[in-house]
Amino acid sequence: MSEVTMDKIISLCRRRGFIFQSSEIYGGLNGAYDYGPMGVELKNNIRDFWWKEMTRMHDDIVGLDASILMHPRVWEASGHVSNFTDPMVDCKCCKSRFRADQIDLAKPCPVCGNKDSFTAPRNFNLMFQTHIGANMDSASVVYLRPETAQGIYVDFKNVLQSSRVKVPFGIAQIGKSFRNEITTKNFIFRSCEFEQMEMQFFCRPGTEDEWFPYWRNERMNYYHKMGIRPESLRWHQHGPDELAFYAKDAYDIQFLFPMGWQELEGVHSRTDYDLTQHQKFSGKDMTYLDPETNERYIPYVVETSAGLTRNVLMALSDAYDEEQTPEGDVRTVLHFHPQIAPVKVAVLPLVKKDGLGEYAKNLEKDLRSSFPTFFDQSGAVGRRYRRMDEIGTPYCITVDYQSLQDQTVTIRFRDSMKQERVSVSQIVPFIHQADMEYKRV
Ligand code: GAP
Repeated sequence: MSEVTMDKIISLCRRRGFIFQSSEIYGGLNGAYDYGPMGVELKNNIRDFWWKEMTRMHDDIVGLDASILMHPRVWEASGHVSNFTDPMVDCKCCKSRFRADQIDLAKPCPVCGNKDSFTAPRNFNLMFQTHIGANMDSASVVYLRPETAQGIYVDFKNVLQSSRVKVPFGIAQIGKSFRNEITTKNFIFRSCEFEQMEMQFFCRPGTEDEWFPYWRNERMNYYHKMGIRPESLRWHQHGPDELAFYAKDAYDIQFLFPMGWQELEGVHSRTDYDLTQHQKFSGKDMTYLDPETNERYIPYVVETSAGLTRNVLMALSDAYDEEQTPEGDVRTVLHFHPQIAPVKVAVLPLVKKDGLGEYAKNLEKDLRSSFPTFFDQSGAVGRRYRRMDEIGTPYCITVDYQSLQDQTVTIRFRDSMKQERVSVSQIVPFIHQADMEYKRV
């Protein structure tokens, strides 16, 4: 196994249709990416896995899909208008912009090399502004949401009154968020347009100290269940200087990305800060009346906040491998867990002719309702296997001359490259079983 670098991942993503730079034919747009045919499947599979784990597997969590554009007062209440800033400096010579906390101000500009060229640090708000309606005046300003969480707080009462939930319960949401990030290096790790998967868990004041460790545990288990190697995940507790002023406690799940340990997800004990702020700014009651005890209170919140697009980079980094084959060459392989692989089953006729191509195509069509499938009959079968390894397809079914005689095929396992002969009628249960038994080696 050789070292996984970001350049290798970027190159594979481009070559195999996972991720492209946005607007590439115009020279690209910084901090914006397009998910190609394989990338969108991978991202949707991760999204669906999160949704299933967080909503269907918990009877106390319901879903929401709030709009990206919200009333501008939301962001005043949340503190984002005044506090969601990064300190920034400009180089007076080349006009490059840097985050003040990520650059040594005593050194020359890393872009143009000029000395003493930095402006004094200024606070730069990360929210994108736009205008709603035809007028471009200050009254029409709206923001692209910088987190999905506020949509959940603002709809707290609507959800409470329209569904049968009772505190403690959670609201889950997946969607796009936008931040005008100054530093957007490291591919999709930090982009200006990205997706979040967030859940706000509302509980009785005082019980957050039980729910906080519960959710930390759930969230780490989620990554283990997704097949991510446990040794590439760790906890980082926020120190007093990192903690948001309203947060009681916060932990990040960090992943060992190619550039080192970095935040993947945050689990935050957010107190009653957000609901209290929205009550203050909207004038609407945000309290909850406990039907059993008759107590009235503003619930406390434990938040789990993961980046979906950052999860995609994690999945690619964790899966990427270059292996020496017994024949002496190198095969690039993505060891995705079968539940997130963009293609689950490829069907490959050994050759096109003698009816093998047609038999394989019909088989692939039959399997479509059970799995994400792919059909490929062009080129040598060995090369087709390698193409499937590179996109992380866990099972390749090969149709050969024997298949026409006895209705059996071979199933090749991506990781071990071993093959097993299976009756066509048994393919679906065989693969379901193999999925359940899957273990990353
Ligand atoms: N609601 C809390 C919140 O938004 P955050 O720590 O700012 O907390 C949560 O963001 C997660 O969203 C991060 O752990 C990361 O996975 C993802 N994220 C944040 N900014 C991002 C960016 N610019 N690009 C990609 N993902 C980002």
